[in-house]
Amino acid sequence: MLQASTRLLLAALLIAATTAFSPAQTNTTLIVNVDHRPSISLNGDWHVIIDQYATGLYDFHQNLRKDGFFMNAPFDPNGHPQDYNFANASTLKVPGDWNTQRPELLYYEGPIWYQRDFEHTARPNTHTFLHFGAANYRTFVWVNTKKVCEHEGGFTPFDCEISSVIKDGKNFVVLSVDNTRIADGVPTLQTDWWNYGGLHRDVSLVEVPTEFIDDYDLHLSRSHPDLVEGYVHVEGASSGTIVSVNIPELNAKTQATVDANSRATVTLPVKSLSLWSPENPKLYKVEIIASTSPAPDGIQDEIGFRTIETRGTQILLNGQPVFLRGISIHAEAPYRTGRAYSQKDVDTLLGWAKDLGCNYVRLAHYPHDERMTRTADRLGLMVWSEIPDYWALQFDNPAVLAKSKQQLSEMIRRDRNKASIILWSVANETPNTEARTKYLTTMVDLAHQLDSTRLVTAALLVRTEKNPAGGTTKIVDDPLGKALDVIGTNEYIGWYEQHAEGADTTTWDIRYDKPLIMSEWGGDAKAGNHAPAGDTHPALWTEEYQAEIYHHQIAMLNKIPQLRGTSPWLLMDFRSARRVNPGLQDNFNRKGLISDQGIKKQAFFILQKAYKEKTLGKPE
Ligand code: GCU
Repeated sequence: MLQASTRLLLAALLIAATTAFSPAQTNTTLIVNVDHRPSISLNGDWHVIIDQYATGLYDFHQNLRKDGFFMNAPFDPNGHPQDYNFANASTLKVPGDWNTQRPELLYYEGPIWYQRDFEHTARPNTHTFLHFGAANYRTFVWVNTKKVCEHEGGFTPFDCEISSVIKDGKNFVVLSVDNTRIADGVPTLQTDWWNYGGLHRDVSLVEVPTEFIDDYDLHLSRSHPDLVEGYVHVEGASSGTIVSVNIPELNAKTQATVDANSRATVTLPVKSLSLWSPENPKLYKVEIIASTSPAPDGIQDEIGFRTIETRGTQILLNGQPVFLRGISIHAEAPYRTGRAYSQKDVDTLLGWAKDLGCNYVRLAHYPHDERMTRTADRLGLMVWSEIPDYWALQFDNPAVLAKSKQQLSEMIRRDRNKASIILWSVANETPNTEARTKYLTTMVDLAHQLDSTRLVTAALLVRTEKNPAGGTTKIVDDPLGKALDVIGTNEYIGWYEQHAEGADTTTWDIRYDKPLIMSEWGGDAKAGNHAPAGDTHPALWTEEYQAEIYHHQIAMLNKIPQLRGTSPWLLMDFRSARRVNPGLQDNFNRKGLISDQGIKKQAFFILQKAYKEKTLGKPE
């Protein structure tokens, strides 16, 4: 029996094929730096219909409906019986996951329809796009009853062209978001995070000129420290169109010509550039103008310039060895819980990371809101950004590989100009199978192809063997390591394996001459759950035991010569449907150093001390 969401996808495709919609296609693009473009916010209250049975698309015999909810038909009580009426329907806030907005939706997985009206009168010689910061998981969009686009993937932005279907004045958009977990999804059925559904990031209307700048890359050359290089892509522009790139503060300006692929290659000599780093998160205002017709298109951005590379087991930032003092973070909103998106959420989470003494954060296990990476740019926090190739995907399924590739391309395209991002991660804790290694090696190659200026990594599982000294040896020889620039490894000594002291007798056998990041370690503690005073063997789930794990881990980590960074699991407790131990977990993973209500646990201060005194790790 086909899963609901597969039926929904088929339905949408079939409807698109059978009814007089404009040609149905996924039809999304991703306009880079869209948050710096003038736009009309569509955030706010949207009418919603919880559509467990996909009634919005199917009739009682499971046939596709021509008069589905996307028609947004006005309800006439004396007219033909109608089972829906958006005008009278309740509302949900956008942006926002639906699960934390209503108790009855906390566990809801399935399709929900969203509808709102909007006024718009398009200016001549423009395109109009509906911009989505992200929507979990699969989204199908209609404007004025015309199907305009669909998107799969819960954490990356997409833009839908609606110029051909909008009219001057009153318009409406109807869309269905379905967060049903699917085996051939990315992620797949099992995740240790709550499957928050819906329009959980900004939605807006964006108008751009007929020919417009939709993508660009500006970065400092690794080989020429006084050269900014990259490209500017001008959608729709014919070859010969001039693009200018200007950095006023550096009195640096250049022009380039668009080629047959609407792309201009940029090389911009710069003098006395102040390099971006955690100690000096310098961002420059950059102006890009395309002399397109009939009107030029121009955008501004704030970009930091730095280089990142490896040399043997060292990570070099601006040519200098660096140690990544980090923490892992889920996009769980502090205090209110739910999917984090607001500047307030971001300032709280990254503010805590700074307070901890971090110069680096691992944003797990999916691209976070763009506010997170922009703020990391400003605060001087280096970033590990990841796509949800998480646990056991269908690694032998080419259709799934296509989804991973799409998400990787979208992640890199959105954030390629963020100086803070130093690492693209293509996976977390995947099984060591041939199909997996082939799949992820392809992903690593794609990441390098899309962005040759950054490092590519993944969080690997490690093998454990008893060693003659009576302790254990952790062996890092996952074949995927061959393809990676930097090796990430996860371990839970003191929690899922051994007792906290086990770290004292654990040695590491790392089979790669590459930098190693201990990308996850730690243990659960319920904030306020304490062991009796003076108890030398504190019980699990107590703050004291979590602190003990950190003590022993820090000592063990300092014995690993090629360790170049760490991001313990994790900054703040987060919701997970896998964590159902009453009184201790209550649907929360409690490995945070801070509770979801902002209570700092004892281990927070242990790590803070090690980071502030720089007693954990060595850059070389
Ligand atoms: C794994 C996984 C995390 C998970 C953590 C845990 O390592 O990568 O997503 O939350 O372990 O078990 O707490």
